[in-house]
Amino acid sequence: MKHLLAPSLLAADFGNLQRDIEMVNRGAADWFHVDVMDGVFVPNISFGTPVMETLKKHATKPLDVHLMIVDPDRYIQMFKDLGAEVLTVHYEACNHLHRTVQAIQATGMKAGVALNPHTPVSVLEDILPDLDLVLIMSVNPGFGGQKFIERALNKISTLDQIRRENDFKFVIEVDGGVGNGNARSLVDAGCDVLVAGSSVFGAADPVAAMETLKSI
Ligand code: DX5
Ligand code: ZN
Repeated sequence: MKHLLAPSLLAADFGNLQRDIEMVNRGAADWFHVDVMDGVFVPNISFGTPVMETLKKHATKPLDVHLMIVDPDRYIQMFKDLGAEVLTVHYEACNHLHRTVQAIQATGMKAGVALNPHTPVSVLEDILPDLDLVLIMSVNPGFGGQKFIERALNKISTLDQIRRENDFKFVIEVDGGVGNGNARSLVDAGCDVLVAGSSVFGAADPVAAMETLKSI
């Protein structure tokens, strides 16, 4: 499949949020990537319900919600009600990951699992058949604008190979430090969804930046 582009709202201008949402609606993007941080799982707090409500009201493309929070089970239904179509939790934040994935899917949302840079793909061996999405973090989660960690490319290739060998259906998403310089190699390695924050919203022309990242 042609790769998807998911601009990360973390890098948007929150003083002009509706304007930036509408720009993504009109642009070459496929999903909205929505980073929710609790200040506990990661050393940063981003946003929660009020921003999600604004997104739900104005976004015309699927909301891809990336939870960087501890004990995400508490909020699964809430994010469903806030319009999430894909809900991704961190492997490192879940004691009972299988239960969490089932609970997400029971609401009708797609379930994703994210891996921090230090977490090997192999830990997902027994849950891969159940997943809709695997998110490979290519920076340490918590902040936009960080440098891409090259090792993520190997993890994507490994995951793609396992997927092909077993005919698994999950999509592979990459998040952190993605831009024109690495987008092509990420897609070639097997990545289906490129998350891009600063390389879209920090560009002089974000509409053109989305176009370029989509057309590589
Ligand atoms: C980081 C977030 C990312 C972030 C990416 O914890 O999960 O989605 O917004 O930002 P860039 O693309 O600027 O690295
Ligand atoms: Zn993210």
